[in-house]
Amino acid sequence: MAIQEKTETERVLAARERYVARGVATVPLVVARAEGARVWDVDGRSYVDFAGGLGCQNTGHGFPPALAAIHEQADRYLHQCFMVGVYEPYVEVCRRLAELWPGGEGDYRSLLVNSGAEAVENAVKIARAATGRPAAVVFDQAFHGRTLLTLAMTGNVKYKHGFGPYPPAVHRVPAPYPYRGVTSDDAIAALERLFHGDAPPDEIACVVLEPVQGEGGFVVMPSDFPPRLKELCERHGILYVDDEVQSGCGRTGPVWAIEHYGVEPDLLVSGKSIGGGLPLAGVTGSAEVMDAVAPGGLGGTFGGNPVACAAACAVLDELASPAFRARADELGRRIRARLDEIAGRCPRIGEVRGLGPMLAVEFLEQSADMARATTAAARERGLVLLSCGTYGNVVRILVPLTISDADLEEGLGILEESLVDAGAAAPD
Ligand SMILES: Cc1ncc(COP(=O)(O)O)c(C=O)c1O
Repeated sequence: MAIQEKTETERVLAARERYVARGVATVPLVVARAEGARVWDVDGRSYVDFAGGLGCQNTGHGFPPALAAIHEQADRYLHQCFMVGVYEPYVEVCRRLAELWPGGEGDYRSLLVNSGAEAVENAVKIARAATGRPAAVVFDQAFHGRTLLTLAMTGNVKYKHGFGPYPPAVHRVPAPYPYRGVTSDDAIAALERLFHGDAPPDEIACVVLEPVQGEGGFVVMPSDFPPRLKELCERHGILYVDDEVQSGCGRTGPVWAIEHYGVEPDLLVSGKSIGGGLPLAGVTGSAEVMDAVAPGGLGGTFGGNPVACAAACAVLDELASPAFRARADELGRRIRARLDEIAGRCPRIGEVRGLGPMLAVEFLEQSADMARATTAAARERGLVLLSCGTYGNVVRILVPLTISDADLEEGLGILEESLVDAGAAAPD
């Protein structure tokens, strides 16, 4: 009997099982190459990519201007450590972040780090230094990272289980979640209760909010909530930290999702797509707030790596271009129209929601089964797709915003077939 040869995918997955920690959750996809909104596996199968490396490829895999900048920078030097030798790419990213600030003219400064979690941690440090207050307020469904402070701020036991106790002075209140019956009024009332219950406002340094909660289920903040929250913050001298790690960098159309709300945050946290696929994240705010920290209080060995910064300059220039924004808006309209149509044929879908092209469907049942079955079926059919949500019952779209019409149509077709495979079309 012929011996069955292992596929390349099986070979790598076997080694993965043997050598990689179990706690890093993976799927049976082994990538060989990626370009634009397409990924190829090690056995030569092609996939449409609706995940974008978990929201890190808004300008597409191998965005040519970022690649060119990476090559040029790699030939000059790979690393210096900004604290050892200042280099211009770091300064240039900070200049662009100041110019792209979602508010009035002013003197804005940034810190660059390696990951979204590190950036959120630093935002809280800066808020504490600027206000002299200890506490942070976060929201239900929040995801701010996997370090101990950011896990304390994250609201999902899937990530938290077994890692406590967590740092103190993190208070959680409900976020608006209209589909599940939580309104802006409910969330504001909970905050007011917090101020009279566990945390007087003069002990609160900052609130931290994602305009569209990412891992929490693509829960879009209602239009009145960020402005009301900002007003409350101003009244009590609390800083408003806008976590744009997932919703930013053009994901919802404008460079920052908070631009949809006309709210000027005190600190803005960026990450994921900013580095065009290289690890980079940042904290931006007014000079007054940022410079509350004395020299030496911020930094890190690799934070703001020159190659990542070179890529980020190319990415930020692209995000700021009207053409990128126009295409993102168009993709948002097209994907939403198609999801609405699909939802009309799939009674198990409870809601289609999102902001611009940051879109998702939530199933009626608060169980992960259907979303898991949908993403698995999608992979079988040639689409990389992710779920999210506190209950894992949301399927989200983080497609590179450079996707061609043909790839988009193919991906949406596979998405619909996969939803049907998973039973979403079955009567409610
Ligand atoms: C809103 C938000 N904040 C922070 C983070 C943490 O970013 P990182 O995984 O780069 O540490 C994430 C990651 O998904 C995120 O979605």
